[in-house]
Amino acid sequence: MHTLDSITVLQQTLAAWRREGHRIALVPTMGNLHEGHLRLIDAARQHADRVVATIFVNPLQFGPDEDLDRYPRTLAEDQRLLIERGCDLLFAPSVETLYPEGQATLTRISVPQVSEGLCGAHRPGHFEGVATVVSLLFNLTRPDVACFGEKDFQQLTVIRKLVRDQHMPIDIIGVPIARDHDGLALSSRNRYLDSEARTQASRLHQCLVDSARQFEQGEASEQVLAQGLQQLEEAGFRPEYLALCDATTLRPITAWQPGSVLLVAAWLGTTRLIDNLSYDSAS
Ligand code: PAF
Repeated sequence: MHTLDSITVLQQTLAAWRREGHRIALVPTMGNLHEGHLRLIDAARQHADRVVATIFVNPLQFGPDEDLDRYPRTLAEDQRLLIERGCDLLFAPSVETLYPEGQATLTRISVPQVSEGLCGAHRPGHFEGVATVVSLLFNLTRPDVACFGEKDFQQLTVIRKLVRDQHMPIDIIGVPIARDHDGLALSSRNRYLDSEARTQASRLHQCLVDSARQFEQGEASEQVLAQGLQQLEEAGFRPEYLALCDATTLRPITAWQPGSVLLVAAWLGTTRLIDNLSYDSAS
């Protein structure tokens, strides 16, 4: 596996692959790879002949008080894992390579409506930062297919809409959440949890499972969501939201039914965790 930081060499390599008739899959990441990312590589492999991963800790998607500086950067270990998993090429550009004219005047892509609620309401500018870098990476690599984790459900929804609105000829594959033995969704931010917080953290997924069960028993959504928030507070979280939404539009709904998804975000100490459970994956 070659690691490149040059756009020119990246594009030459991809052009040669395209001339040979290869289908190309893209897996954009911010590095600090775990099993969840590696399953994206596996999914990419199933849909293409050549798998390209990117590692770029995108400053545009971090708010001023967020964890950009402490975000774990583990390139050598990431390279080892990607090689083991059979990734063909890693593009790991610097901020200067991707944003040569700086960030202040950069052309931004914003995806209205689906970016606005849930995490978007608590992280202003976050999804604009994501949509901008993903659109840029799509333009640079022109993949046939791109894989994203369902853990970041709102991000996946934003990217699907971006691709539809821009008529980009890219298949977006959502890859199911990889979970630890106790249900905690794998995330690079789990590394911030000390052992006590790590034990408590599994209650986030438990809250989704319990809420889904209550919906199935016919309880009213307002009551289920209020109880879920209370359950989180009792477990030591500071919840931001627990919401039942339509999985395509992310508009709030009241019925747990095909095409619906329960989403949650909550703080445990200084770590912000998110998770979700879709009706279709739960039933
Ligand atoms: O999910 C992530 O790691 C990032 O948000 C992404 C999609 C790589 C964009 O920076």
